[in-house]
Amino acid sequence: MRWPLTRVGKAHRAPSVGFMQPWNFLVVGSPADKPRVHDVFRTAEAEGLSPDDRRALYSRMKPQEILELPINQCITCDRSRSGPVVLGRTHMLSMGLYSSVCAVQNLWLAARAEGLGVGWVSIFEQQALQDALGIPHDIVPIACLCVGWVSHFNNRPELETCGWLPRLPLAELLHYEQWGSTMRTSPDEALTAAACAQRPRTTAFHRRPGSTCPPA
Ligand SMILES: Cc1cc2nc3c(=O)[nH]c(=O)nc-3n(C[C@H](O)[C@H](O)[C@H](O)COP(=O)(O)O)c2cc1C
Repeated sequence: MRWPLTRVGKAHRAPSVGFMQPWNFLVVGSPADKPRVHDVFRTAEAEGLSPDDRRALYSRMKPQEILELPINQCITCDRSRSGPVVLGRTHMLSMGLYSSVCAVQNLWLAARAEGLGVGWVSIFEQQALQDALGIPHDIVPIACLCVGWVSHFNNRPELETCGWLPRLPLAELLHYEQWGSTMRTSPDEALTAAACAQRPRTTAFHRRPGSTCPPA
């Protein structure tokens, strides 16, 4: 399988706090290297798996993607990149980590647009994964992604279909003005009202086709 640089390039175009671009991309494709990653996964899986009633369900669901798919890719975060002062990160140091997650999402969407499947494997003990891949201990492995051609895409997440957990109702996750306050109107009406209230007060406001805001 080819691993075009353009795909990684799309991940590299992700937004990042203070433009620190804290990521690196480690591509693991050789049959010699993948079993080491797989061993780290298996150890963590055996140590950490959930209660027994879920174990049987889990073992039915999980393919051994790490070995089966041609490419594993590890996206990392160098939290010290571009020095101690990073615009936008002063009060929340975790913003560097979140920036690397944006790169993961970009790569995921780029792969998916090409018809490639992506699975994020996070059942790893961090230091064991760093050692298996030669990653320095001050560099955080954010995501190990298994990428490859798949027979089909599910319409719904596998964990939802198999009854692991249900999709939460969106309305239960929405708050209005203050955390915990309920909607005074329907969520749709509340969001539309908020969006319309923000529009520029000029006649040059572009009203897109299908806009639910009344004309200015
Ligand atoms: C942060 C994160 C961590 C994940 N970790 C795992 C994991 O360790 N093992 C796994 O099988 N899936 C994991 N997933 C989910 C898979 O990547 C899954 O393949 C993906 O959500 C797409 O499949 P779906 O449409 O069935 O959800 C994780 C997803 C995210 C966003």
